[in-house]
Amino acid sequence: MAYELKDLNQSARLSLSFFLLAIVIGTVSALIMLGLLLTHQESGFAVPSVENIKIKYHYPQLVSAMKTSMNQYVADEADIEAVSKWISAGKTEAEYKKTIAPIMSTACVSCHNPTSTMSGAMPGLPLTTYKEVVKYTVAGYSWVKMAKQAHVHLFGIGTFLVLVTFIFAFTSFRPWFRSLAITVTWIALILDVLCWWLTKYELSFAYVIVGAGATMSGGAIGMCVLSILDLWITVPLLSQPKPSAPETAGIDR
Ligand code: HEC
Repeated sequence: MAYELKDLNQSARLSLSFFLLAIVIGTVSALIMLGLLLTHQESGFAVPSVENIKIKYHYPQLVSAMKTSMNQYVADEADIEAVSKWISAGKTEAEYKKTIAPIMSTACVSCHNPTSTMSGAMPGLPLTTYKEVVKYTVAGYSWVKMAKQAHVHLFGIGTFLVLVTFIFAFTSFRPWFRSLAITVTWIALILDVLCWWLTKYELSFAYVIVGAGATMSGGAIGMCVLSILDLWITVPLLSQPKPSAPETAGIDR
């Protein structure tokens, strides 16, 4: 007979239930954090829009900063458009001198220059010359930052997901349902990270990031909750029907 979670003793079932509960709370916390970081809000539950994802993974750092954390210093929203156009048109030095340098010197260099002593200044990130500004015009995350995030994300989530999916694999649910939930969740995790890179070059992959991220977290939470239920009760519909007890049971020999 296949081994099932239900066969474990009570202490083992308590141990797994609390682990799964911790993962549910952890995943919800991660979603809260992600929502707040992406929408630049301080508290509550924030649902990020696809635009927020594009800002993070597609726009050059200069443009995304002007749209988000540095937006309060931008004199005119048209300046963001001008910077964006300059970058996509090949970011030449001549055009920089004509349109970009004036924008930087009015709105940004009071803080972003190596000798600034203003409070709240950022002398370590100067934006006073063409060379300095052009550093922040690469689309999305830099390769180093992306590779750093990708491996931390995959190692971290992979480590708990293997436990969650392994526990789920030993529930009494129908085999096709178990395999489907496990496969979809793992594919979503890998697709999510893959699309961070692709979104750098092609904007429409931002939608796949949203879908894959939602599937991954939904799958993990769903498997945790269902496994907890399966540890203690028989979940109707999803559970595999038990083969009827052997005929010998009631026969007196
Ligand atoms: C009052 C000072 C101040 C002004 C004005 C200012 N910045 Fe900043 N900037 C900072 C500080 C401090 C940081 C680092 C902390 C942070 O990210 O908030 C920063 C970070 C940045 C970063 C890197 C981090 C990120 O958010 O992507 C960029 C790019 C940037 N600023 C661009 C600009 C541009 C463009 C302007 C002009 C529209 C501007 N800043 C105006 C103080 C300023």
